[in-house]
Amino acid sequence: MPTPTALITTRFDATSTAEDVVAGLDLSSVRAIVTGASSGIGRETARALARAGADVTLAVRNTDAGATAAEDIATSTSNERVRVAALDLANQASVATFVQRWNGPLHLLINNAGVIPSTLSRTAEGWELQFATNYLGHFALSLGLHDALAVGARERGEARIVSVSSTAHMRSPIVFDDIHFERRAYDPQAAYAQSKTADALCAVEATRRWAADGIVANAVNPGGVATGLQRDFTQKQREYLADAEAAGVFVYKTVAQGAVHHPRRGRRPRIRPHRRALSDGRPRGPYRAQRRRLVRQWRRRQAVGD
Ligand SMILES: NC(=O)c1ccc[n+]([C@@H]2O[C@H](COP(=O)([O-])OP(=O)(O)OC[C@H]3O[C@@H](n4cnc5c(N)ncnc54)[C@H](OP(=O)(O)O)[C@@H]3O)[C@@H](O)[C@H]2O)c1
Repeated sequence: MPTPTALITTRFDATSTAEDVVAGLDLSSVRAIVTGASSGIGRETARALARAGADVTLAVRNTDAGATAAEDIATSTSNERVRVAALDLANQASVATFVQRWNGPLHLLINNAGVIPSTLSRTAEGWELQFATNYLGHFALSLGLHDALAVGARERGEARIVSVSSTAHMRSPIVFDDIHFERRAYDPQAAYAQSKTADALCAVEATRRWAADGIVANAVNPGGVATGLQRDFTQKQREYLADAEAAGVFVYKTVAQGAVHHPRRGRRPRIRPHRRALSDGRPRGPYRAQRRRLVRQWRRRQAVGD
């Protein structure tokens, strides 16, 4: 019988906002990166961290939009330590450049950026865009920033990676036999789901590998939030969401409520860190096998210096 682990308990609930969670916190010694912070949940996450005094880098693909967001955040929080850096997660060279340019310790990496295009798009490598952006880009970023996180962990006792997943992960495992939709019809929701499964499992494996360096990763689900993420949805996708909402499967949260998980995970925890995928426990059943395959993929990439 596996030993049950204690569930995370909190005084916050689905109506709490990111600002509620950081109220009274001093994160002035924290250097944080938030990917995809020019809009949506990432922007509000960055705002909450800045409000608590953190030094926040908005890692964005559109630096003009990033500069507008940074100015807005700096003004609204009276924190001038809000920076912008170029990062296109769908472009491995851009990820490598971002990593090269990063100097000094890192305490908090929030892997938040995500896309759901309605049609099949591929990167220069031929990778399906959602898997490439939502997972592979963040994987390379986390790997590249490992040493900076380890330095950050030595300074503060712990460094944290937050991997923004989704309950969508329940709709698809990683389909290792055809990750990039070369032999099956493209289904954008399935592509999104497998990328979010990978994000969650990556957090589990990162903690397993890096806990000894003081680095802990958590995967979080922000809940349903109306953002730019749905902008390319087809009519069918919109109807699917509307039906789910009407059936009470979820209730839309505000963006500030959606951002609540990230700063909470980014704080030093009062609980012992777990090797968890989402907050509902360790991967079970088929996900154990999925994690093993992800680990093999991880090893192969490291072996070729990728
Ligand atoms: N909204 C929800 O209901 C919901 C539910 C569960 C999970 N999530 C997750 O929450 C996270 C944030 O999404 P959101 O709802 O806040 O959507 P959003 O407003 O569309 O934000 C996504 C961000 O990711 C950025 N991005 C996209 N492709 C990128 C790339 N190649 N390189 C760098 N940045 C890139 C976007 O930049 P551009 O502005 O340049 O496009 C945007 O700033 C995502 O991981 C999403 O999967 C959202």
